[in-house]
Amino acid sequence: MLKKKIEDICNRQVEREGYSSNLYIAMASWAETNGFPGVSAWLYSQAEEEHLHMLKFIKYINERGGKAIMPALKKPDTDYKGVEDVFKAVLKHEEFVTASINEIVGLTLDEKDFNTHNFLQWFVFEQVEEEASVRTILDKIRLVGKNNMYQFDKDILSLRTPAANAQTNP
Ligand SMILES: [Fe+2]
Ligand SMILES: [Fe+2]
Repeated sequence: MLKKKIEDICNRQVEREGYSSNLYIAMASWAETNGFPGVSAWLYSQAEEEHLHMLKFIKYINERGGKAIMPALKKPDTDYKGVEDVFKAVLKHEEFVTASINEIVGLTLDEKDFNTHNFLQWFVFEQVEEEASVRTILDKIRLVGKNNMYQFDKDILSLRTPAANAQTNP
């Protein structure tokens, strides 16, 4: 049985993963309507992954005798200055999520909840990958230059890891 404290913080993460999914859909939609089909496809795939992260937390909470709660989600930003602006916002958001996961890991140690601690390890590794992949994208944007986004847009899907592609495009 999950302790209430752990159940609550896991439900907070349900909200954060759900918001991540909506945020990336909002960004994908911006890219789709501003002439960046590659960036848009990357973001839609990312949104699907975040949706799966949310489900992982929901199923875990319920499996351990807790009660997962579907939260109201706040409205994400829909206006961006450009592709670099979008990915800077993605990195900032992923850093926020990493801190959030780490906070839960810390609480599981305080509460000696080793099952939840074990469950979270997948997310700990995932966040390392998430941040690294966005940093690679930002490096690439700096390399090709802000004025060459046409080429970048064509290249971006090749930057997705095979594992990420397999997960979202079975
Ligand atoms: Fe996530
Ligand atoms: Fe993420």
